[in-house]
Amino acid sequence: MNSTPSRISFHDFKPDTGSFCEDVLNGLAQPQKELPPKYFYDPRGCELFEAICELPEYYLTRTETAMMQRLAPEMARCLGEGCVLVEYGSGNSRKTRILLEALRPPVYMPIDIAGDQLRATAAELGQVFPRLEVVAVCADYTRSLSFPEWKSGDVRRTVVYFPGSTIGNLTQAEALAFLRNTVSLVGDGGAMLVGVDLKKDRKVLDAAYDDARGVTAEFNLNLLRRINRELGADFDPARFRHRAFYSEEWSRIEMHLVSVGAQRVSVAGRRFDFRDGETIHTENSCKYSVAEFRELARQAGFRSAQTWTDADHLFSVHYLECLRVSP
Ligand code: AVI
Repeated sequence: MNSTPSRISFHDFKPDTGSFCEDVLNGLAQPQKELPPKYFYDPRGCELFEAICELPEYYLTRTETAMMQRLAPEMARCLGEGCVLVEYGSGNSRKTRILLEALRPPVYMPIDIAGDQLRATAAELGQVFPRLEVVAVCADYTRSLSFPEWKSGDVRRTVVYFPGSTIGNLTQAEALAFLRNTVSLVGDGGAMLVGVDLKKDRKVLDAAYDDARGVTAEFNLNLLRRINRELGADFDPARFRHRAFYSEEWSRIEMHLVSVGAQRVSVAGRRFDFRDGETIHTENSCKYSVAEFRELARQAGFRSAQTWTDADHLFSVHYLECLRVSP
């Protein structure tokens, strides 16, 4: 389906959104109850996430944006001319604008599951960059995917941009599979620019995911409200509390919802019992050292060509190349 102007096209791959109920029932039936973090992002969840990004404790967005402002011209030199810039989970594309400004690629391909926001972003970027071809793709980038065609002829390579340390929300095994998949998607000569949160003092990490104003707690609890609304469940959010902590063993922040007292909850006609203090594991946010992430990328088939960090060593951006294999 195409929309005007002609340099903007919209491709709806109709991502499978029908598995919410199945995923919730399945997750709550596990010995360690769990819920997939991708379901945080209903409209209220998106609003809360935007608010998290502004929090004094949540250094990630601020730090990465400042890095992009300072380093985008250097990153653009690495990426070179004639890129198709593919962005996974583009959201509102704020950081991308900084990169687009410096890179001026012929084609930008934002891929996101949220179709309405994607259309709005594509239209906005079309206005700001009138010469840019925007190929918007409504799809779940965590599933296997092939890129639609673009019209511009002056394309030399495909580069995936994946900012925000969203890769940290995958376990290390999932991240490896995801990077391998990206290697085969971008092909020989392709590349990836990926934002990765760094390991650091656990007090800084704990505070970033358990802020004083309770916005992250609200974000976590909103998942129960969504399940109530969309799946006819009867969670009482007042009887769960937010818990976030850094696990040294797994090098990750874990977010949980802790049951206050023993209780029974019904979801889509199924009952689930909670012991007092029992938790639902709602998110992992893995942290890496620069060397660890480079090694993961190497195992996936990338060569680490450049890594940037901020002065306080809070955040990293990796430029990874997929080497041309000589015949
Ligand atoms: C989207 N993602 C990178 C965020 C993170 O830091 O893992 C999600 C988030 N969860 C709680 N606060 C932010």
